[in-house]
Amino acid sequence: MEPDRVLSDLRAYVDAELEKLFTADVPYKRLTDAMRYSLLAGGKRIRPILTLRFCQILGGDVSAAMPLALAVEMIHTYSLIHDDLPCMDNDALRRGKPTNHVVFGEGRATVAGDALQSAAFELALSAPVGPDRLVKAVAYLARAAGAAGMCGGQELDTAEDSDRSPEGLTLINDLKTGALLRAACVLGVLAAGGTDRQLAAAEDYGTHLARAFQIRDDILDITATEAALGKSVGSDAANEKPTFASILGVEAAERKVLEETEAAKAAVRETFPDPDFLLALADHLAVREK
Ligand code: IPE
Ligand code: IPE
Ligand code: MG
Ligand code: MG
Ligand code: MG
Repeated sequence: MEPDRVLSDLRAYVDAELEKLFTADVPYKRLTDAMRYSLLAGGKRIRPILTLRFCQILGGDVSAAMPLALAVEMIHTYSLIHDDLPCMDNDALRRGKPTNHVVFGEGRATVAGDALQSAAFELALSAPVGPDRLVKAVAYLARAAGAAGMCGGQELDTAEDSDRSPEGLTLINDLKTGALLRAACVLGVLAAGGTDRQLAAAEDYGTHLARAFQIRDDILDITATEAALGKSVGSDAANEKPTFASILGVEAAERKVLEETEAAKAAVRETFPDPDFLLALADHLAVREK
């Protein structure tokens, strides 16, 4: 199947499943409304698509991997809600809409993020992939979301005294963005019962894809418009955060995106049956405009 078709089919499947979440009529409906607001605001769904595709190419059951895929997207969405808070990046636009705290208030936005994370683990634990694979997958996800992963990266990203040399920035990016993207890939392999070699290759792909992805994000923060990007631009400069795009310049940063993209592709080319979509996705993300 053509990569474009794989992308649109998996995205439609993910969006349809996300739509079913948090619809109950509950006394705390303003909270679940806030959770749905950000979850359904129309992200690219790259992470759940990766989980499903890694599972699919290894012959796994995509519907069984879906709870894991949705869990990654829920944790990602929570990270964005918190990332936009005034105490973090202080941004007003996300996924083409006013940020969660602008609409629902800071307190509710904070709790909506917390509740999305708890719900993610509850849902992940329902994935019918067998107890051994499930324990490994959920433990991997927990570590990726926490201090040793995304939260640790957010700490280094916001601390004023962090190392912002190229090595320091790579560490920040590997944690704040790499941890969850890597988990998305690994969870798909785990759901399908892939080999240790395939797990390592999925980690490698996720690491390099995320490096390219975050540097592209930093470039777009400088070069894109809010209308095209659907989120605040100029945020890194406003927060005085050096990025690869600002320390190397946009052109050198673009070269780095291409290098990391090639490294990501090399990780999966020989290790997986039918890697075409993974290769095309990496190329597509390297030049994305949003
Ligand atoms: C934004 O992630 C945060 C970064 C890690 C750069 P995405 O660019 O995947 O955001 P959505 O999910 O499409 O909104
Ligand atoms: C994304 O970094 C990291 C996380 C949300 C965990 P950014 O702060 O650059 O992401 P955007 O640009 O706000 O999406
Ligand atoms: Mg940030
Ligand atoms: Mg931000
Ligand atoms: Mg950014």
